Amino acid sequence: MYRSTTCGALRASNIDSEVILSGWVQKVRDKGFVVWVDLRDRYGITQLVLDQDRTAKDLLEKAKELGRETVIQVKGQVIERASKNANIPTGDIEVLVHELHILNESILPPFTIEDETDGGEDLRMKYRYLDIRRNPVKDNLIFRHKVTMEVRKYLSDQGFIEVETPYLIKSTPEGARDFLVPSRMNEGQFYALPQSPQTFKQLLMVGGMDKYFQIVKCFRDEDLRADRQPEFTQIDCEMAFVEQEDILNAFEGLTKHLLKEIHGLETGDFPRITFDEAMRRFGNDKPDIRFGMEFGELNTVAQHKEFNVFNTAELVAGIAVPGGASYTRKEIDKLIDWVKRPQVGAKGMVYVKCNDDGSFKSSVDKFYDQDDLSKWAEVTGAKAGDLICVLSGNTNETRSQLSALRMELAERLGLRKPDEFAPLWVIDFPLLELDEETGIYHAMHHPFTSPKPGQLQLLETEPGNVKANAYDLVLNGNEIGGGSIRIHDKDIQATMFKHLGFTPEEAKAQFGFLMDAFQYGAPPHGGIAFGLDRLVSILGGQETIRDFIAFPKNNSGRDVMIDAPANIDDDQLKELHLKLDLE
Ligand code: AMO
Repeated sequence: MYRSTTCGALRASNIDSEVILSGWVQKVRDKGFVVWVDLRDRYGITQLVLDQDRTAKDLLEKAKELGRETVIQVKGQVIERASKNANIPTGDIEVLVHELHILNESILPPFTIEDETDGGEDLRMKYRYLDIRRNPVKDNLIFRHKVTMEVRKYLSDQGFIEVETPYLIKSTPEGARDFLVPSRMNEGQFYALPQSPQTFKQLLMVGGMDKYFQIVKCFRDEDLRADRQPEFTQIDCEMAFVEQEDILNAFEGLTKHLLKEIHGLETGDFPRITFDEAMRRFGNDKPDIRFGMEFGELNTVAQHKEFNVFNTAELVAGIAVPGGASYTRKEIDKLIDWVKRPQVGAKGMVYVKCNDDGSFKSSVDKFYDQDDLSKWAEVTGAKAGDLICVLSGNTNETRSQLSALRMELAERLGLRKPDEFAPLWVIDFPLLELDEETGIYHAMHHPFTSPKPGQLQLLETEPGNVKANAYDLVLNGNEIGGGSIRIHDKDIQATMFKHLGFTPEEAKAQFGFLMDAFQYGAPPHGGIAFGLDRLVSILGGQETIRDFIAFPKNNSGRDVMIDAPANIDDDQLKELHLKLDLE
């Protein structure tokens, strides 16, 4: 028997019992006549003690020689500690060792296995298995497990069946590039790894499965960010005989359940706002509503004066920054530099200080009097002591710039509290999105999403104005889930493909299997997929999903631990009928 208990279990009530423990040597403190060893495993740390009065000499010497991260097994007696440590659960006791076996030595680890480590990001990724020994990473993985189990339990209790779908498939259009897998047995042909199980879950509905879910890996070859990985996990769900309302209720239920089970929070009904409203009020389709600073549109009160920058702008919009009136000239200049960075892209920023005495001081005093500025304050909801920041220009660009500023200021002001959770639904997304460069319309969600009832004919005349039965679940400024009611009629699906620029032949070649299936009594259906990595990290109070994935990829899509992707042998290439043509 390697162990009778774990390193996190022993308490004062265990005093006098004989125990066997196995684990890693965290730290050795050698005072000459007495040695303390911190022994660590997944469950915690137990202090071991050996001293010259109670321990055989050779055993004491052996303990002194133990290196960090050596794996040992000890037998001993639980005793009361002379000086207790209230900071750890096992702090009342220690184990007086009378047997010690070295199970495996460790060479010196490249960084300290402590909560605050001296290892940089790259080093920790290369030795991820050591990083996982550290509490912050280990706790995140345990947290992920807990959330995942709650999801499975809840959905299963609601009658959802978990069904696995294949990974070697044909392209599913979710808007990213596919990862491709060459087929050895089918010369010159490739599988695509699923960007999501979208078409399969719809086929499961045709198959009568009714309520499906799957916790499933998805693969997307796209640019990486803090909230994106090339392979990530979805909680993928689909239901038959449902309308949008049914889906929203079902998955609001799941999210409420998680907030309750994980954080003990009772959440009221989630607010619902339309895409158009989200863009108008927050400049963003995934607004963080933990704080205010909503946009005020200033066109009517700021235009038609002498200030041409505003007169020629499609949109003039501002936000009120709480307490911002006290910013110094230098601080405001820095803020202006911040919005002018290429990543944000504003040309400049107009500001108004709302003084405590009710007067205003603006950067455009030449053009606007106190009366004008008080209207700006009214529209943006600014109070005495606030700073109004105003951007202008093309509507979409101005919204996105002001949204970036809003998020940045909220972050700086500590308004994005990680332990506060503000979910909402964003509904009524546009069906199509114009690619400004090519002038071609793409499906905003995916091509299987149905238009709102009665809007199909609008596709011909005003494609950009057709709204979809599509929705996103947003939590703390992050899109944690998205879905739609699907098209289940073959002809409507064919019309949709036509509007997306597919010839009937192309549509048949790529999605013939789905349109065929629709001929055999496809039920009305719809669904949603949550990004599990995102959901878990936000519930865990963070926004970087990498920290909640055991073996993540870096920003260049590499696994630096196993060194992938990697070259392959000529033989392997040949077998796959592939020839590389590298520059
Ligand atoms: P969508 O493309 O919106 O919808 O994806 C669903 C959710 O998956 C998460 N997500 C990601 N997480 C980490 N890394 C990525 N690269 C990444 N890409 C997406 C997001 C997102 O909300 N088949 C549809 C769902 C449906 O219609 O039912 C789909 O995949 O949190």
